[in-house]
Amino acid sequence: MLNSELLNYISGTKKNIALNVLFRWFGLLMNILISFSIVWILNQFYQGENPDYLFFIFLLTGLWLLKFFFERKAELYGFSLSQKVKKHLRLRFLRKIIKIGPSYSQKMPSSKILQLAGDGVEQLQTYYSGFMPQLFFSILATLTMVVLIAFINVRTSLVLLIFSPLIPIVIYKGLSIARKILGRYWKSYFDLGSTFMDNIQGLTIAKIYNADEYKHKVMNEKAEDFRVKTMKLLTMQLNSINVMDIIAFGGVSAGIITAFLQLRKGNIAIEGFNGDTGLMGMILILLLCYDFFVPLRILGSLFHVAMNGIFASTFITDFLNLPDENNGKEISDKENFDITINAMSFSFNENDFIKGINIIFPQNQMTSIVGKSGCGKSTIVNILSGILTGYKGSIKIGNTENRDLMNSYRMKHINIITHNPYFFKGSVRENMLLANENATDNDIEQALKEVNLLNFINSQNGLDTLLNANAENFSGGQKQRLAIARALLQNPDVFIFDEATSNIEAESEEIIMSLIEKLKQEKTIILISHRLSNVVKSDNIYYMEDGNIIEKGTHNELISAGNKYAKLYQYQKELESYGKN
Ligand SMILES: Nc1ncnc2c1ncn2[C@@H]1O[C@H](COP(=O)(O)OP(=O)(O)OP(=O)(O)O)[C@@H](O)[C@H]1O
Ligand SMILES: [Mg+2]
Repeated sequence: MLNSELLNYISGTKKNIALNVLFRWFGLLMNILISFSIVWILNQFYQGENPDYLFFIFLLTGLWLLKFFFERKAELYGFSLSQKVKKHLRLRFLRKIIKIGPSYSQKMPSSKILQLAGDGVEQLQTYYSGFMPQLFFSILATLTMVVLIAFINVRTSLVLLIFSPLIPIVIYKGLSIARKILGRYWKSYFDLGSTFMDNIQGLTIAKIYNADEYKHKVMNEKAEDFRVKTMKLLTMQLNSINVMDIIAFGGVSAGIITAFLQLRKGNIAIEGFNGDTGLMGMILILLLCYDFFVPLRILGSLFHVAMNGIFASTFITDFLNLPDENNGKEISDKENFDITINAMSFSFNENDFIKGINIIFPQNQMTSIVGKSGCGKSTIVNILSGILTGYKGSIKIGNTENRDLMNSYRMKHINIITHNPYFFKGSVRENMLLANENATDNDIEQALKEVNLLNFINSQNGLDTLLNANAENFSGGQKQRLAIARALLQNPDVFIFDEATSNIEAESEEIIMSLIEKLKQEKTIILISHRLSNVVKSDNIYYMEDGNIIEKGTHNELISAGNKYAKLYQYQKELESYGKN
């Protein structure tokens, strides 16, 4: 029932839980004293004595104020506890995402991470700041009351004691049913989350294909399923609260009946109450019984909300327990950046898709990978850059095995520029500074000039030009040039261009291709391009088919060999000249 692992994660909160419980217990003691004072004054009145009313007014006011003070203190500790728990867990989530590195979404879908970090943590917070303190408080409160009532009448106290564990037993018995219902609830919730995220991201496409109606229907179905699962969860919670109420009221009734029977036998007495026939003891028992089951009932209702959090906590610990891929090796900036792939295989499912390939990407050279769509080019660069993990064989970055490399180092030294780069909402300058926080405006302008984008940016609002989320106010080609400029500012040792010029018009493409050739004087360049005319000047070209390298050599060597590369090159050339004729 308790996730001990998560308790360790939040070890700093024990003091808050203890103080919250302590102040609530003080509050309870004040409540007991108030009941006792009322009975005391009643007794004096009943005995025909003349009570000191002024003293009692002061006493009761003082006790009420103290009770208010303690309960308020407990509330404050509870509040700060819940803040701490939320902040702590969300911070751990963020740190974990960073530690896992670029492959995090391979381990758990982004929508699920968002749901857990948002709602999951929110529910778990009820567990820590509500259920946990309530559990300790209920035990303490029940024992206090049992001991106290035992002073008035032992049998009544025993009857109440026998009834009180029934509530935790009902909670425990309901666990297996709750688990099933909660499992279905969370599954439906994750399902709804991923469908929702997917549909929002693809809304434009859905509209283009007139499929928004259909997607709307699918989302409605998922939402309806979630509604049904939520209602089942609420029904279960309500039913068990009813059962707990029956036990609580049953317990109170049994306690009161026992007390009456004991009263008739003359077994009820309060020490120091002179002349009492037991009536005052009976009234005190009635007043205390009212409070007796309250902490346990609250525990029961909190349990069901907390149970949701406990269930979410298993997913949360699953995520937090994912192996850190960040504890790898560092590499020195001075190391050579030859990349050597040796007998490397990779599978998405069971069968190897990349089948034991060998490639060398030497520093100061431009090496290209070509081949038909789907042959595995991007897969290779995604493995190199750590987005895909779990390759077999060896990939050496300089002298370090890629899987052993610390993510932050890999990211610092290897930059992959794709046909679909991402930009954040904000100015061009802000986006560029992400790559190099020390870059001056001059550096940024120089990088933009290199990719033939400076004139356009200056015609807008200069470096203050605003980008929408993912730079949607820029054209595809402008985004690609901006991405190359951003990579230039970062100045990594390995540049990977994966169709990075696919949307760029011929004139700018030529400028960028000569820029890439210039870069190779210092860097390791990996180029992937459908247009074989772009790879002609490469120092080495690898031709892939179905996850295999089937040809390699320089352009001239491959042309002379007259195999698949040569045929594809010839075919593309004919297509291009066909367009010109
Ligand atoms: N995450 C994935 N899970 C399962 N299969 C995948 C995944 N990513 C890619 N694939 C499959 O691997 C194969 C190679 O994909 P890859 O993206 O490497 O092709 P590519 O050579 O880069 O093609 P293109 O030239 O069209 O970009 C494809 O058949 C693709 O369906
Ligand atoms: Mg690709």
